[in-house]
Amino acid sequence: MTGAPRIEVLDDAAACSDAAAHAIAQALVAAVDRHGRADWATTGGSTPVGIYQVLASAPHRDEVPWQQVHVWWGDDRYVPRDHPLSNVLPLDQVLLSASARAGLSGSGADAADIELGLEPGLWLPPAHVHAPQMTRAIADGSGLDAAVAAYDAELRADGPPVGEAGVPAFDVVLLGIGPDGHVLSVFPGSPLLDDTEAWVAAVPAPTHIEPHVPRLSLTPRILAAAVSVVVVVHGAGKAAILASVLGPERDERRWPAQLARRENATWFLDRAAAAELPTLPG
Ligand code: 6PG
Repeated sequence: MTGAPRIEVLDDAAACSDAAAHAIAQALVAAVDRHGRADWATTGGSTPVGIYQVLASAPHRDEVPWQQVHVWWGDDRYVPRDHPLSNVLPLDQVLLSASARAGLSGSGADAADIELGLEPGLWLPPAHVHAPQMTRAIADGSGLDAAVAAYDAELRADGPPVGEAGVPAFDVVLLGIGPDGHVLSVFPGSPLLDDTEAWVAAVPAPTHIEPHVPRLSLTPRILAAAVSVVVVVHGAGKAAILASVLGPERDERRWPAQLARRENATWFLDRAAAAELPTLPG
């Protein structure tokens, strides 16, 4: 029995980003209060960008004890960290403004932001930003399996405590939902749905969905172990898949995002994405 998630339907994508940023900030503050650090597994795609902008602004930039926060990724693509497809790049660019901090001009946007008087990004201890080591694996030719092994080892050495089902219990997991109903890089029919051992796995390039690049993914068992899960879905393009994922038929093999229909989860939807939901499900 996984229980029912909390579902909030908000006006638009900006409102979803505000609400999700607030939920993440609350979870991080509560975790630091409880045990002196917070472990956040974030996501890729376009969903986190607006959330990072809100988190990097007042009040969250000042209220969250960022130096105690550890960031991990639920999944990443097998591309270098500064590649447009990287799931790490949005965090580097938007939450941390890494290029501005390094004194680089980057695209020019960061420098213009500073001239406009906008605040630079947050500072987290570099050792707390646990990005999968894709750049190194590509550069030295060791390959995706080496990146998977390194990420697994890093989680075991410096990750959150092990919780339910023998997997790390993150304080907060942020998820977007793919157009096929995937979460993390757990695609429909994925062998990860049956794997009861691995924490991290290599995922071959999907052929049914872009981008067609191999991935690294955490096991979906982290969703049950997490203190809290935040799911964000916005835009009319997600309305049809959301109607299936939150619909009456349960089939997690077909729609892995249903694994996030659990009582430790809050789903933030905008009206456009929620448009085809007949009734809000339990
Ligand atoms: C990935 C992403 C993926 C993403 C969803 C939603 O590597 O494929 O992590 O799981 O979160 O596809 O994508 P959008 O946020 O762009 O809608």
